[in-house]
Amino acid sequence: MTLTDINPTTRRTFAASLATLPWFGSALAQGMMSGMPEMAGMGGMNAAAVSLAPVTAIAAGAPLAALKKLVNTSPKAGVFRATLRAAPVTVTILQDRTKTEFWAYNDLLPGPLIEVTEGDTVEIEFINDLPQESTIHWHGLPVPSEQDGNPHDAVPAGGRRVYRFKLPLDCAGTYWYHPHPHNHTAEQVFRGLAGLFIVRAKNDPLKAIPERHLVFSDLKLAADGSIPANDMNDEMNGREGQFALVNAQRQPVLTFDAGGRERWRIWNANSARYLKLKLPGARFTLVGTDGGLIGKPVANLTELVLVAAERIEVIVEAPPGAGVVGLVTEPVERGKMGMVPQEFPITLLDVDFSAVRPERLAALASLPQTLRSIRPLGAVKAKKRVVFSEEMSMAGGVHSMKFLVNGKLFDMRRVDLTSRINEVELWEIANDSDMDHPFHIHGVQFQVIERELDGKVTPESLLAWHDMANTRPGETVRIKMVQRHKGLRMFHCHILEHENAGMMGQVNVV
Ligand code: C2O
Ligand code: CU
Ligand code: CU
Repeated sequence: MTLTDINPTTRRTFAASLATLPWFGSALAQGMMSGMPEMAGMGGMNAAAVSLAPVTAIAAGAPLAALKKLVNTSPKAGVFRATLRAAPVTVTILQDRTKTEFWAYNDLLPGPLIEVTEGDTVEIEFINDLPQESTIHWHGLPVPSEQDGNPHDAVPAGGRRVYRFKLPLDCAGTYWYHPHPHNHTAEQVFRGLAGLFIVRAKNDPLKAIPERHLVFSDLKLAADGSIPANDMNDEMNGREGQFALVNAQRQPVLTFDAGGRERWRIWNANSARYLKLKLPGARFTLVGTDGGLIGKPVANLTELVLVAAERIEVIVEAPPGAGVVGLVTEPVERGKMGMVPQEFPITLLDVDFSAVRPERLAALASLPQTLRSIRPLGAVKAKKRVVFSEEMSMAGGVHSMKFLVNGKLFDMRRVDLTSRINEVELWEIANDSDMDHPFHIHGVQFQVIERELDGKVTPESLLAWHDMANTRPGETVRIKMVQRHKGLRMFHCHILEHENAGMMGQVNVV
């Protein structure tokens, strides 16, 4: 077992100094003595090491499940009405029939798929049958602040409320929803609360292509089937469970469309794990990002990187003559600290291309070359600067990390920034830390303009709508956005443990 393999020198010194701290030192010794294969056995600040279920404890190889849709109960055209109930649910996911208590929306893992059309009015009644307060946050959707399920509008345990919003035109895309209560977001998500949201375009240039939904989430399970609390490593690096699931299944089999081409909507619904997806022999054509279709397809990609909470849409064509090919995620170096075990590629899914008929493949029509019109946001009216940083803390004699925005921990009572409605703003997100942090802001999609690292500015080549942007240690990312609603908005690192630990701020739109 070694310390993280570390790229920037600053990180090496930081990690090395961590190892000399009493807590890390003893964890290191403990790990070495027991020869633990997994960092996850490291235990919490005072908890004993949790023994984890082996990866094979969940059966693999079942056919990939389609997402369950939330049924629209409204008889009116243009109105989507339904109920989401968050509650504990007992599920048998381990092969040995040991039961696991998850927290889920409508008893489903992942939560149900909401499918609407741009311009629709959405009315979701939320029933909170959890033992703690919660909210539903509509990640990435352009909804008013008071409907956005931010921590100011928590629904108490046993309570309910209705979220109501009208979606504007030109917001078709791949979104999701998850809880966002103060201090409990990470826990509620890792216990199972997260669902999917697709806004369909009135005119979709790709609608003839069969669609596939792949939701990647991870799960950490103790050997007794329970979902353990975060340990110190989870708190520091973000929780990554031993199971990397697709549509809540371990390594299922996707039987590829006989026609030879599919459109995949991909969600990284992990708390922290970044994805680097590869499908040997196949090429991906990127057609969409967090906020929907891009202007023109980007063909011939061999890998797809998605930071936590990011979504993309790709077109996949069957490689000629292919049989079963594993979709793999490779480890992404994101500056994890402390004692991190070596990471290996994980096969997420087996894609079975054998039903594809070669003559169909040869006859595939070329993709439309114009998908959507995206205009670059224009002249900048105001600028904002956000700095992500980390600090070691010894508060109360306990070693922990502080994750800060502009030098401060999140405070619900403090407004960090003020923006004006309908003005183009340039936000500069600077990462002054040793780890990657994926930036996210509520209620708005932004355009990435450029990235600066070590004095070198790289303009962003892709004009696209995002609500997620990774920031590397030492990097500054410049983005443009326009707020279309007044009110308070959260912005934060979407490694949920970092957000929970304070790496979040509030902008008030006036
Ligand atoms: Cu996925 Cu504050 O959000
Ligand atoms: Cu969000
Ligand atoms: Cu972070």
